[in-house]
Amino acid sequence: MRDPHDMFRPLHYEDQRRPLPDARTLPAWCYTSEAFHRRERERIFLHAWQFVGRADELASPGDYRCIETAGGSVVVLRDQEGIIRAFANTCRHRGARLLEGTGARERIVCPYHGWTYALNGALRAAPQMQRTRNFDRGRYGLAPLRVEAWQGFVFVSFDPDIAPLSEYYGDLFERYASYRFDEMVLTRRRRYDLACNWKLLIENAHEAYHTGVVHSASLGEQHAEVLETRGNWEALFHPLETSVAVLPGESTAFPHIAGLSDDLAGGTYFTLLYPNAHFACVQDCMWWMTFIPTGAQRCIGEVGFCFPRSTVARADFDDVVRRYYHRWDVSIDEDNATGERQQEGLRSALRTPGPYSHTEEVVYRFAKWLLDHVLDEAREAERMSA
Ligand code: FES
Ligand SMILES: [Fe+2]
Repeated sequence: MRDPHDMFRPLHYEDQRRPLPDARTLPAWCYTSEAFHRRERERIFLHAWQFVGRADELASPGDYRCIETAGGSVVVLRDQEGIIRAFANTCRHRGARLLEGTGARERIVCPYHGWTYALNGALRAAPQMQRTRNFDRGRYGLAPLRVEAWQGFVFVSFDPDIAPLSEYYGDLFERYASYRFDEMVLTRRRRYDLACNWKLLIENAHEAYHTGVVHSASLGEQHAEVLETRGNWEALFHPLETSVAVLPGESTAFPHIAGLSDDLAGGTYFTLLYPNAHFACVQDCMWWMTFIPTGAQRCIGEVGFCFPRSTVARADFDDVVRRYYHRWDVSIDEDNATGERQQEGLRSALRTPGPYSHTEEVVYRFAKWLLDHVLDEAREAERMSA
């Protein structure tokens, strides 16, 4: 199948919008085309909330972490007042990247010509600029992003006019309140460089159709029900009395979170926070994954694991948590390999959109959400109503 030159015209996607039993998957170009990737960046990633990590990773003033996003590298830090801020990781002089990785700083000094910024983004020093006409340091602070946090989870947005986080995610925060995520801490983070489009791994994380096949030797089959949600999120509920975060047959796990509401206590919620975050919310822990597009056919996977503070304080934590990490390492490797294999298959000239199983409803919803944001018509309608 050739990429059409007018790939954002709605007429190419009529099959994707039919009711689920008649619908077809996204065309291959949505996963392979650089033009489609650029459109997602402009229309989705520069206007969405993007989950970037935990506030407890930035424990003290000066702590920072560089995050890859579809809009380029971002520095997330805690300033001298304790406020979490985010800035584009680019110097206001000639654009050098300012920081790498993680660490702690009292100020940010550009490694190129030494412009120096305070942790609130203000430009404090710029050597040899006295002959530059009308040079006003006040106009060259770091470019800020919007930052909001929910129960210790930090989100950023490039869009200064985006709706508040709680509005963007509708009824999510209220429905998940009894997980008490603010009492959790991050215990481990992993990063993966992957040779596939970001959407393939988001889709994979939100259907249980593959589990009996891809994870036949590890997790085995799972069955999940789709939740009705309000706002930019979806969830699959997998009923299971014991923690899904250890391999089947592993008997000893950590205690359940005290005070979990009845609906949350009965299993795991595999949750999609649009556009690119996955939260697996379990009775005794949570883990998150984000898949960040770095090109049409490449992405970065970031994974983090959180446990209640009281669990981390247990004498047996280090010993028992190894079973959780083992389960994640095995299943994440299996899923990542599937994403790369699927990318290879989608490159075939003979690939055409396929039908869905009824168990892939969230994948279907995700495709429609995506199309609502990237197609030309959706944009037109938005402009008319503005
Ligand atoms: S690019 Fe940063 S000081 Fe010149
Ligand atoms: Fe999987």
